[in-house]
Amino acid sequence: MRIDVFSIFPEMFEGPFSTSIIKRARERDLVDIRTYNIRDWAIDKHQLTDDTPYGGGGGMVMKPEPLFAAVEDVRGEDVCPVILLTPQGRVLTQAVAAELAARPRLMLLCGRYEGVDERVREHLATDEISIGDYVLSGGELAAMVVVDAVVRLLPGALGFEGSAVEDSHATGLLEGAHYTRPPLFREWPVPEILISGHHARIVAWRRQQALLRTLERRPDLLATAPLTAKERQWLRAQGYEGPFAEAV
Ligand code: ADE
Repeated sequence: MRIDVFSIFPEMFEGPFSTSIIKRARERDLVDIRTYNIRDWAIDKHQLTDDTPYGGGGGMVMKPEPLFAAVEDVRGEDVCPVILLTPQGRVLTQAVAAELAARPRLMLLCGRYEGVDERVREHLATDEISIGDYVLSGGELAAMVVVDAVVRLLPGALGFEGSAVEDSHATGLLEGAHYTRPPLFREWPVPEILISGHHARIVAWRRQQALLRTLERRPDLLATAPLTAKERQWLRAQGYEGPFAEAV
């Protein structure tokens, strides 16, 4: 997969894109990530990428010309999603990350200042993504979040392939607790079942823990999670009164 990121602060990406899972995925050629400085496509002698808003008001607006030129130059004849990071976009979820991970190429546009000229949104971006209902100083941190959520889903990116499948949200549920050695830390033991060696019972216990944790913390997720009839019945017995999607 290839990901092109356009920003006026490309140096912000250096640490996150050369550390941990993303670093390893790049080394394994699972993803080719390139960052570009939008300023390199600015047309005037001061290399301006922003200007005052028509109609007045505070703040500056990112000019359309450098953004269009940058994307068109790098994209060439290719057709691919051009995603503007903005708090007005559709909210990033695990399902959105999975959808993006299936694409061979993505372009991410990081807005700054008060906003981006509307013609970028209308005629250059093909998608708009928000990472949540809060306002960041720019799209850079949001682009990093999108890249991280997408790259870890690429086959071979995680050491243990099962881990992305069982992640919180990947199953529609939150994951239950995890433990490692020592078996007794201070006066807090690891649950007996995990040390028992009964694989099938451990799988069933983990599923029950995931259901319980989701019920406690995010009961809204139970409405859409794929659940068996038996699990739905069990959740009712635990006091869940909300709706359920179709049984699986
Ligand atoms: N730019 C500023 N805030 C943002 C957000 N919440 N998501 C994506 N891009 C943004």
